[in-house]
Amino acid sequence: MGLGSVVHVVGARPNFVKMAPVIAALEERGDVEQRIVHTGQHYDERMSSEMLTDLEFPEPDVFLGVGSGTHGAQTARALEAFERVLLDEEPDLVCVGGDVNSTLAVALAAAKLGIPIAHVEAGLRSYDWTMPEEINRVLTDRLSQILFTHSPEAAPNLALEGIDPARVHFVGNTMIDSLRRFEARAEERMPWRQFRLERGDYVLVTLHRPSNVDGGRQLARVVDALVALADHARVVFPVHPRTTERLRAEGLLSSLLGAGVDCTEPLGYLDFLGLQIGAGAVVTDSGGVQEEASALGVPCFTLRPNTERPVTIAQGTNTLLGEDPGPIGEIRPRELEHRVARIEGWDGYAGQRAAEVIAHVLQSRPAEVFA
Ligand code: UD1
Repeated sequence: MGLGSVVHVVGARPNFVKMAPVIAALEERGDVEQRIVHTGQHYDERMSSEMLTDLEFPEPDVFLGVGSGTHGAQTARALEAFERVLLDEEPDLVCVGGDVNSTLAVALAAAKLGIPIAHVEAGLRSYDWTMPEEINRVLTDRLSQILFTHSPEAAPNLALEGIDPARVHFVGNTMIDSLRRFEARAEERMPWRQFRLERGDYVLVTLHRPSNVDGGRQLARVVDALVALADHARVVFPVHPRTTERLRAEGLLSSLLGAGVDCTEPLGYLDFLGLQIGAGAVVTDSGGVQEEASALGVPCFTLRPNTERPVTIAQGTNTLLGEDPGPIGEIRPRELEHRVARIEGWDGYAGQRAAEVIAHVLQSRPAEVFA
């Protein structure tokens, strides 16, 4: 008989990268029973299957198939379907990661059934309540009994919200565990060659946040800036499905293609990581990419007015552009200095530290977790 059972939940692309190291570390220990639930928030080959294969992620035991929809519909479908899983499985603990709609939905289902929750990547705050992810973060942390933090700012953020520090465990960044595990393999693939690019000589772009792509005016400004960039630099842009849909609707895709921007489907984990490794600079609005670029030492330009990852700014590896995409047009990938950020706990062992805490909690069953 093991220490107890954990249900891990993943749903959208960044979750797979964050949760894989925790699941692998618990598997390695062998004393905790694990089940994996995939909500199906991301469901297509490029956004899900290829990511899971690249990460050597175990086959999920349950697939909920919640798919896309409005925030309310997507969250509600995941909540209802996951509650049924919990009633069937009766786990001792639910483990969730990040800040996507699936994360909040499953945390809510577990909390209402009195099942303790461990939250990987707790305590990040942009203090921007217009971001759906910020709402998801704050509420998931409030519902969790075990909060795994990955950077120094997280604990004070949680303390400000009155969360008992005894619940907070600094374990470091599990996303960087995945990066360290796979970076050699990703680099060997030399994915830049597929795009006839030279290492260090191109800008890698990812943009999908509603604030940048959902409004026609901002999206047009983004496209203008990328067109200006493509005038003097090679640009490769794996386009998120949300962004593709908006570019098509606004009739802007042809401007990008006409300017020579290499627009591709979303890529698998290894190809995308390989492209980051070889890039002269990265332009993004993703949270995970800011972290990965910093850990790799690739200069990152973030098209947002704020970031919940200020540690990447303090290290000088990430530049917040604000809302104006204009400066993107001025980036000179070959001229930028590459400097690897050294951040405590971003060392490849965060998943192991989280697994130790989970095992300890399951063994000792403290009253603050198992009320
Ligand atoms: C979600 C997360 C975001 C995360 C991002 C990573 C929320 C609120 N947002 O945003 O934090 O950074 O994932 O990718 O949870 N679609 C497909 N195929 C898929 C998945 C989605 O075509 O496999 C399309 C949907 O039809 C929809 C759009 O992409 O139109 C948005 O998908 P959704 O999961 O709602 O949010 P993301 O923008 O991906």
